[in-house]
Amino acid sequence: MTHYPSARFSVAPMLDWTDRHCRYFHRLMSRHAQLYTEMVTTGAILYGKGDYLGFNEQEHPLVLQLGGSDPVALAECAIRAERQGYGEINLNVGCPSDRVQNGMFGACLMAEPKRVADSVAAMKAAVNIPVTVKTRIGIDEQDSYGFLCTLVNSLVDVKVDALIVHARKAWLKGLSPKQNRDVPPLDYERVYQLKRDYPELTIAINGGIKTLAEANTHLRQLDGVMLGREVYQNPYILAQVDGALFDEHYQIPSRHEVVRQLLPYIEQQLSQDTYLGNITRHTLGIFQGLPGARAWRRYLSENAHKKGAGPEVVEAAMAKVPEFCYID
Ligand SMILES: Cc1cc2nc3c(=O)[nH]c(=O)nc-3n(C[C@H](O)[C@H](O)[C@H](O)COP(=O)(O)O)c2cc1C
Repeated sequence: MTHYPSARFSVAPMLDWTDRHCRYFHRLMSRHAQLYTEMVTTGAILYGKGDYLGFNEQEHPLVLQLGGSDPVALAECAIRAERQGYGEINLNVGCPSDRVQNGMFGACLMAEPKRVADSVAAMKAAVNIPVTVKTRIGIDEQDSYGFLCTLVNSLVDVKVDALIVHARKAWLKGLSPKQNRDVPPLDYERVYQLKRDYPELTIAINGGIKTLAEANTHLRQLDGVMLGREVYQNPYILAQVDGALFDEHYQIPSRHEVVRQLLPYIEQQLSQDTYLGNITRHTLGIFQGLPGARAWRRYLSENAHKKGAGPEVVEAAMAKVPEFCYID
């Protein structure tokens, strides 16, 4: 079989969305898609009380996304992550939220190429797993190609393992994180240019990609594609990924089968005091476009939060979608 880089297709890190339940669910539909954690800050890992690094073995290939800018703290977190079994570390140099800017990390780091490079170098020296960076094409008025290349040069110098580029700049003042995902225009050509100028560097593109046909178009110029919102809202797109992008063909599970495969996981998690809605909220889009999809969503939304709700709620919701009325 052809060997593809693991970054060929990935599901974007999304705070509050790509938690371990979401990733378990996504993995049921694709063996190859690389999955990302939500961004986890170094402060949470080093000083927090929660289990910020927990995941299920089935989630591999799995990347931990870190938020931070202190090379020593990042290296320590990378060591813990490698020990825990993560396959890759990604540094967030793209998030524009105020909270993140106050902590001096995320997109504002684009203006601090030396600090980013020192951070990557420190992590690479500390672990054997790949260390990558996710960034934007610019910030505020600093949006020239040269500005982006200054960051990339510093990363190439420290042998970053891959770069994921969200193909729009971020406005650090005046736009919310949500607006920053839509308002600044996409510039795919700039990312293609980067790959032409740095052919040795593994580069994946992110931003606004909605279909696997679009993904394939990008893959003619680049090493990888990363999809975020489309996968979350229309997760069954993942069922086509292994065949369409990794040339691996097997009988893909139907949407109903995917939900049935999730039931044992739900039972196991409920026995550990997880609440059903925390799992099912990620599945609302699985029947998107089919008759009964709304009834599925509504039934789950109205019942999954009730005390004692269990797998039977999911089965009852699934019964709202006729099983044999479609061919995937
Ligand atoms: C709810 C939400 C949370 C996000 N959280 C993160 C994050 O933790 N780290 C990050 O690098 N990007 C984050 N992003 C940005 C996505 O990773 C991605 O770059 C962006 O959504 C553009 O890709 P898309 O058009 O395919 O969604 C988030 C996006 C959304 C919608």
